[in-house]
Amino acid sequence: MGALPPVIAVDGPSGVGKGMVTRWLAHELGWHRLDSGALYRILALAAQRAGIPHDQPAAVAALAPGLDIRFVGTTEADEAILVDGADWTADIRAESTGGLASHIASAEAVRAALLQRQRDFRRAPGLVADGRDMGTVVFPDARLKIFLDASAEARAERRWRQLSQAGVNAKLLDLCDEVRARDERDRKRAIAPLAPAADAIVVDSTQMKPDEVLAEVGRLLRNRGISP
Ligand code: DC
Repeated sequence: MGALPPVIAVDGPSGVGKGMVTRWLAHELGWHRLDSGALYRILALAAQRAGIPHDQPAAVAALAPGLDIRFVGTTEADEAILVDGADWTADIRAESTGGLASHIASAEAVRAALLQRQRDFRRAPGLVADGRDMGTVVFPDARLKIFLDASAEARAERRWRQLSQAGVNAKLLDLCDEVRARDERDRKRAIAPLAPAADAIVVDSTQMKPDEVLAEVGRLLRNRGISP
């Protein structure tokens, strides 16, 4: 068996900018990208639509193999997520769906149901994987593991700016509470909790501008000898 295609794992809490970093990396390197959070979001939404309560993880997990999931486009603007042929993009991106996903994601049955599906994204020439447990569980052999972090306040404020620019009226304090609640669930769950892998490089972006984060990530790539 030949060597598996290389993986760059980018993990971190919600709203930290993993999407920006992983889209940039995939574009720069010409590699595939896995948005693992979207898989959890899709499954949470599919369960809701099928009338399955989120506290029945076995029934939620049983939906996973039957879902036909397609990611179309590569930039935030042209990206679409098709589930069984229907466009679920807007519903998947909704803040409330992130909360639902975080709930179902604490169940072992759900995580197990999505594990191979995530590994199937590993194709030549390489994969940039975005999530919570990419470096710890899904791709422990990743060539580079980055753990992107930032304070809950900084992440809530960035989200608030994004929503304001999109004309959505949100309260900063509410966003801050939501970010903290989701962090708490993701970090404290028993299975695959959000935590840096022992060999991950932690990048704290609290005080950094987006282009400074990308410059730092670019430096990490060069240090590992990773190039397109
Ligand atoms: O990255 P995101 O906000 O789209 O993820 C939504 C939720 O899914 C997140 O709060 C926790 C869960 N998740 C996970 O448990 N493991 C992953 N690899 C990705 C997401």
